Amino acid sequence: MEEVKFKILENKKLTDLIYILKLEGNTKSIKNSGEFVNLKLPNYYLRRPISVADFDENTLTLIYKILGEGTKDLSKLEEGTYLDILVGLGNGFNLDTKNPLLVAGGIGIAPFVKVIKEFNKKGIKPTLVYGEQTKDNFILLDFFKGNTNLYLTTDDGSVGFKGNAVSFLKENKIDFTTYYACGPLPMLKSLSEYNDNGYLSLEARMGCGFGACMGCSIKTTNGFKRVCKEGPVFMASEVIYE
Ligand SMILES: Cc1cc2nc3c(=O)[nH]c(=O)nc-3n(C[C@H](O)[C@H](O)[C@H](O)COP(=O)(O)OP(=O)(O)OC[C@H]3O[C@@H](n4cnc5c(N)ncnc54)[C@H](O)[C@@H]3O)c2cc1C
Ligand code: FES
Repeated sequence: MEEVKFKILENKKLTDLIYILKLEGNTKSIKNSGEFVNLKLPNYYLRRPISVADFDENTLTLIYKILGEGTKDLSKLEEGTYLDILVGLGNGFNLDTKNPLLVAGGIGIAPFVKVIKEFNKKGIKPTLVYGEQTKDNFILLDFFKGNTNLYLTTDDGSVGFKGNAVSFLKENKIDFTTYYACGPLPMLKSLSEYNDNGYLSLEARMGCGFGACMGCSIKTTNGFKRVCKEGPVFMASEVIYE
């Protein structure tokens, strides 16, 4: 873990509520896709955890959705502003599989940008099932169309399969060796009840974000684990839902 000052290169609106934030700074402590960072926002005591969407030697990309006051204020920050960010947090995905299936619900799509690039580098085109409430909420579709076998689902049926990503999987035979899922907890729970041969990226309210306060603990088959330290990625088969 390292505390780094990043400069905002771009803070661009993608949909009504979703923004892409490109930052410049030292990324050497970021090792894996699926890790997260913890942002210190001006005037807020608690940091805001956000998944690493993409990174290279000196840039970091985050994709965030406005949820409350913190993310709303983040969306107002301008190019050139510096942000204090804890980087190198969490464990990230184990991408050692031949035929991956990515399952994303809403803003849960964020960590898959880097994941897809890493699979593509190995000559693998992953299957992506990407669910949203309605068609206007999807982001970066050109990138996903070009680099994955893409299936869209919408709750209102405005594009793709009508229903959520898990009902799509139940009704359509998709071959895969391992799945990687990120999205709302009810989606992750119903996915792992349907099939537990995969990994889930979980969210939890966080205090410290680096393993010291135990505030983000969840129950697993191997005892309590911290989402910020042993997670946020867990095997679907180990998570116990309360
Ligand atoms: C590991 C991890 C990765 C995440 N990745 C992303 C991402 O890539 N893009 C994205 O848009 N969001 C992501 N989130 C959720 C994001 O942290 C919250 O949406 C954000 O903190 C909300 O802050 P706020 O001030 O706007 O909302 P408020 O509701 O005003 O926040 C109040 C407090 O609750 C916490 N909080 C609120 N919602 C959540 C939540 N869902 N998870 C954790 N803490 C929360 C805030 O951090 C803050 O401390 C992630 C969360 C975790 C734990
Ligand atoms: S947030 Fe403090 S231990 Fe996870």
